[in-house]
Amino acid sequence: MEDNECRDGRKKVRLANTPLSVSQILTCILPSGGGDAENLQCILRLLTSYGVFSEHREFRGERKYSLTEIGKSLVTDAEGLSYAPYVLQHHQDAFMSAWPLVHEAVLDPTIEPFVKVHGEPAYSYYGKMPEMNGLMRRAISGVSVPFMTSVLDSYNGFKGVKRLVDVGGSAGDCLRMILQKHHFICEGINFDLPEVVGEAPSIPGVTHIGGDMFNSIPAANAIFMKWVLATWTDDECKLIMENCYKALLAGGKLIACEPVLLDDSNESQRTRALLEGDIFVMTIYRAKDDNSFYFFLFILPVSYALSGR
Ligand SMILES: C[S@@+](CC[C@H](N)C(=O)[O-])C[C@H]1O[C@@H](n2cnc3c(N)ncnc32)[C@H](O)[C@@H]1O
Repeated sequence: MEDNECRDGRKKVRLANTPLSVSQILTCILPSGGGDAENLQCILRLLTSYGVFSEHREFRGERKYSLTEIGKSLVTDAEGLSYAPYVLQHHQDAFMSAWPLVHEAVLDPTIEPFVKVHGEPAYSYYGKMPEMNGLMRRAISGVSVPFMTSVLDSYNGFKGVKRLVDVGGSAGDCLRMILQKHHFICEGINFDLPEVVGEAPSIPGVTHIGGDMFNSIPAANAIFMKWVLATWTDDECKLIMENCYKALLAGGKLIACEPVLLDDSNESQRTRALLEGDIFVMTIYRAKDDNSFYFFLFILPVSYALSGR
């Protein structure tokens, strides 16, 4: 094992991924002893069957476990990122308590299950809970950074942009990566709720601005928006887009990057992830649409770049 410092200052442990027995793993978790190896083994065997661990066993010998590629995605990487905060975020008590009401989204879709349980929408609830907001920022960074790496490999729509606003940009990871790749962009504005940008790290070339996209959006040549529209109703999306239109300078454009559900309900992991995402949004957020917005994006074959003026 070797210790490293993460970019946010936390200590990170990088595993060599040598197969370990349950007692060796217990010693790592509880160096001063104790713990129940049999119970840990039950959990590790189940996680093995889900592809998180590989099991190594000589004939009837002791079981040893190493991480699979899925398991590794849950371990903090050299940049301090992993998918683990996303998993933890989705299993917080506040989210879990909305799931027993998922049927209510069918019976009475006017108020989402999260609001029925907590009396207020998810984003205003997070706003009062700094630890929830912090976990959301880390969760978004963990899933967004690898995703943006592949977007930036293939998407060329930032050409000619001088001032770029990322609406709902969370900690600013997307903007940081866009600016690192496209040096011609002189100025990046990371626009999100005040309580979110208030805790965002400083990034060269990026100004964090707190506000509400339903009121107004800072002016720019181009507006980038990723994984934002999918959590709002069609009417709310129209309002956000009207504010984008007002914010765009002449010749500007809106670059929307959102999940698009294909027609076929097949068994692929991708389809399942998208369908599960829809159920998550239906339970926690507000999205209730007639698919017209998605259709609008889907018919734009090149880049989902919506032209402004
Ligand atoms: C699912 S996250 C996406 C974050 C980021 N775009 C990414 O893909 O990495 C949605 C973001 O929208 C922000 N948001 C929610 N309501 C907002 C509002 N009224 N005005 C501005 N941002 C908002 C949230 O705080 C959150 O950071």
